[in-house]
Amino acid sequence: MHKVLSYLGLGSNEGDRERNLRTAIERLGQTPGIRVLRTSALRESTLVGEGPKQDPFLNGVVEIETTQSAAALLAVCKALEAAAGRALPAKKNHPRPLDLDLLLYGDLRIDTRDLVVPHPELLARVFVLEPLLELGLSEELLRERCAIERPCLLTAQSELSAKCSEWLEGGCLVGLVPTMGALHQGHASLFERARRECDRIVATIFVNPLQFGPKEDLAAYPRDLPGDLRICAAAGVDAVFAPSPGEMYGDGFCSTVAVGREAETMEGALRPGHFQGVATVVARLFALARPHRAYFGQKDAQQVAVIRRLVKDLGFPLRLVECPTVREPDGLAMSSRNVYLDAADRRAAGVISLALRTAQEAFRGGERDRDAIVRAAVAVIAAEPRAQLDYLELRSDGDLLPQPAGAVSGGRLVTAVRFGAARVVRLLDNMPLVENSESSQS
Ligand code: PAF
Repeated sequence: MHKVLSYLGLGSNEGDRERNLRTAIERLGQTPGIRVLRTSALRESTLVGEGPKQDPFLNGVVEIETTQSAAALLAVCKALEAAAGRALPAKKNHPRPLDLDLLLYGDLRIDTRDLVVPHPELLARVFVLEPLLELGLSEELLRERCAIERPCLLTAQSELSAKCSEWLEGGCLVGLVPTMGALHQGHASLFERARRECDRIVATIFVNPLQFGPKEDLAAYPRDLPGDLRICAAAGVDAVFAPSPGEMYGDGFCSTVAVGREAETMEGALRPGHFQGVATVVARLFALARPHRAYFGQKDAQQVAVIRRLVKDLGFPLRLVECPTVREPDGLAMSSRNVYLDAADRRAAGVISLALRTAQEAFRGGERDRDAIVRAAVAVIAAEPRAQLDYLELRSDGDLLPQPAGAVSGGRLVTAVRFGAARVVRLLDNMPLVENSESSQS
């Protein structure tokens, strides 16, 4: 059977530390398929990261030759930790009688839920790096083996499928965040939510030509891949899929997803074909990545309603996660298109959220008439000469279908407002009508 040269990191800071480590090494050597070749000297270290006050660790590295698979080796390590008295699943950064980490497994790269090899902290932890150097591995070789790009940049559809398959087969919960790039704090909040909820997250950056009309800003849409990659890296995104239009829609691509009543009015009426383009690219991304969860911003409420319908009707097996709108200090909803605003329009654009909040306050003050609530908001926008209203409507929350005139018990105000003369900038926003102040901004 094929023998693989591997390295395990050992640590203990509870009980008789040296005895715990020596016993583990002895037991490793007694395990079928494992031969212990060499052990580094043991050295002390203190806890890295936040945790309860605790004694220093004793650490070392053991070099083994094994016919066991990496997954089987991990199971051996977990069994030895349990035998040493470690309560599993282990609490992060708590004292432990034994900690065993698979650092290197031949030159294989593994990226599953339970195991990432080479160990991601290998170069950063002196108590791991020094023993490896002591055992004769060169720093250059370690740097080469550990040079894993995060986020890794994928440009081919096959790469996205393969990366997600690797994660899915490795038991990871995968989150997808579709974007058109020009990333800002609003996108970062989607990444942060996905990071909290998933094992691996992939962001897509693709300015989708199918969702732009012939007179729209496709060519001028802001693009900054290096800047976007920096934002993704800071937010802990694992992979970025940034295909060219030819890659996404090459090879005679001609199928589209038809969308229904959620897409008929407001943006759908003003931008014919827009939601069909959105639904087509989103369906394509879902099919390629097969994520467990997909994250979208509530700022584009109608888009979310269309995608919710798409997921339901076409039976995509994923959870749609709708995330709250992130706002500038003056209330303007963050959008990639805000960069188009000149200084005067940018100042004036705060009027959108002011209008929505005015209507919300009217509702909280007891106003229940649909048209009176809408009028309260429209009056605020009308008072700003730089703003031109495309629509402002009070729709039912969720599917955003029209509400009949008369008394309402809530709903969502949805608006699109234009700014600029030479270059028109259309900004979207929405706000729920709720009694209390909680979630009133989302
Ligand atoms: O909201 C967007 O950025 C785009 O419409 C989306 C969902 C990424 C599809 O191109």
